Order: sequence, then structure tokens, then C-alpha cells
Amino acid sequence: MNNMKISIIGAGQVGSTTAFLLALKELADEVVMVDINPSVLGKALDMNCCSPLEGFRTKITGSTDYSAISGSAVVVITAGLARTPGMSREDLLLKNKEIVEGAASKIKEFSPEAVVIVVTNPLDVMAYVAWKATGFPKQRVMGMAGTLDSARLKYFLSEELGANPREIEGLVLGAHGDSMVAMPALTKIGGKPVGQHLSPEKLQKIISRTQNCGAEIVNLLKTGSAYYSPASSVVTMVQSVINDERKVVPCSVCADGEYGYSGIFLGLPAVLGKDGVEKIIEYPLAPEAKALLNKSAEETLKIIQGLAA
Ligand code: APR
Repeated sequence: MNNMKISIIGAGQVGSTTAFLLALKELADEVVMVDINPSVLGKALDMNCCSPLEGFRTKITGSTDYSAISGSAVVVITAGLARTPGMSREDLLLKNKEIVEGAASKIKEFSPEAVVIVVTNPLDVMAYVAWKATGFPKQRVMGMAGTLDSARLKYFLSEELGANPREIEGLVLGAHGDSMVAMPALTKIGGKPVGQHLSPEKLQKIISRTQNCGAEIVNLLKTGSAYYSPASSVVTMVQSVINDERKVVPCSVCADGEYGYSGIFLGLPAVLGKDGVEKIIEYPLAPEAKALLNKSAEETLKIIQGLAA
């Protein structure tokens, strides 16, 4: 195996599903879950008992003690409160800020070289909070959102067109919220722009469903929010980092002049490798798409400025 440890802070629905997927794929020697709830030990034991059945050699550890994350190559933060029906991501802001700051300070103490992937909502703001609280270089802190939003777009397109989801290239940028921006010009099926396969009305319906998919799932679940696809999206990002795959993954990253933004976390296409965000890719954007991206960035900026005030 690769002699690596991956840790997850917050072993709720998203955190524990992520841990299990990482183990099934044997992406690390050890996967550590830390939670304030001692039930995390039971979850780890339950998962480890799957190893003879599934054939994985990854060891899963559950702990209430943050020192268990020592020496991790990647730490994922999913600790926080999840949305309930009628609750916006922004409602969660202050409570989750406190939780993410606490987790970030422990990462700084026990895994100062780690790449950090934030999942806690409101996502772009929490990635910013984790960046500030760790004091890590911006390359080593990112948020998981665009990967998930793009996967949802691709899934809905594959359903509509009866196409293999793997054959669809799709990109959703901007903040992880109502202002996310799907990029039809960068969305292709079998190499052809999506506009050649679908009417503008059908495409708009699919984009709206993608934007509202998180809320659609919350309403169907009744308690909690989505976790299978968020966990799968985290695993895609972890895999690109630990295997130095340098995959282009849309995720929340700290821009440094790219697309005209600086010092703000926003969903942009990023190359993920062993050092974290290796590069942010700048695609030419149509003026309408850029205007929507600007609006999305402004919303996140307003919240960040509100936090600082
Ligand atoms: N340290 C460690 N774990 C914590 C802390 C803390 N300070 N505070 C809360 N937790 C844990 C909870 O005990 C719980 O197990 O975080 C976990 C959150 O899990 P869930 O409530 O199941 O939430 P989940 O659906 O996993 O979502 C987690 O991801 O997608 C986002 O909006 C979602 O912000 C939410 C996060």
C-alpha cells in the first residue's frame, strides 16, 4: 500500500461514507475518523469487519481524540451541522464557523503538512475560514463543491439523453449555492457541445434542477442532507491529490488573480496533485457566464466581509 494516512474530522453521514469509500478503494493504509460523538468507534469497528468480505487492507480508526490525525497526508473536514428542510446553507454559517475553526486549529497542530479538503457548508466561506485558521498556503486548502455540482449536472444530462455518464464533460463553477454557474459552452457529450444535443429550454430545466438538487434531496430525506454523492466527490479529490493524478477538478479554491478574483474561495477548475491545488485553469468565458460568476463571487465576498466585521 502507500504508507499514507487520510483523516476525516466529523464522522456523520458524509464523513463516514467517505471513510468507507476510501477503504473500499484502498486509497490509504489508514483512514482515521474523529468525531465528538463516541459512536465513531462503533462505526470504525463496523467498517473494519467488512475487510474480509470486501478484501481491503486499509485500517479504519475511530477516535474522539484529535491527536489520532497526526501525520495525515490529507484531512477532510465534514464536521458541522447539516441542513434541514427550509434551512439555507447560510443559516448554518456562525455555528459551523466555530466548528471549522476548532478543527482547523487541530489540523495545524497535528498535521501541519496536510492538504485540507473542506466539506462543511456554507462551503466556500468555510474553506476560507479553514484557510485563515490553519494559516496554510492557499494551495493546501480547498473545498468540495464543484465536483458534486458537476456530477449532478452530468447525471441529469445522462438521464435525459440516455448517455453513459462517463462520456459527459460538464462544468459547474462559482459558489456552492443558489448562485452556482453551469457552463454550457464547456459541457460536452461525446465531444460535442451540449447545445447540439438538447433544446435551450430542456438544458435550462436541467441546469435549474442541478442548482436545486441539494434542496431536492434534503426535502426527500426529511432529515439531514445528501451524503453519497458528496462523499464520492471528496474521494475523487483525495485520489487526485494522493496519487498526484493532476486531474482537472472543479472545486472551491483561493483565486490569486485568476478570472480577476483574489483572496476569495470560489468554485473554479483546478488541477489537483500532491501539493494540493497545482494550478487554476482559466477557460475563456462568454460575457454572460462571467457576469454570473462575478455575481456568485460577490455573494461569497459579502459573507466573508460580514464575518470579519
Ligand atoms: N469535531 C468533530 N466532529 C464534530 C464536531 C467537532 N467540533 N461538531 C460536530 N461534529 C460531528 C457530529 O457529531 C456529526 O457526526 O460532525 C458530524 C456531522 O455529521 P452529520 O450531522 O451527519 O452531517 P453530514 O450530513 O455528514 O454533513 C456534514 O457536510 O455537506 C455538508 O452541509 C453539510 O455542513 C454539513 C457537513
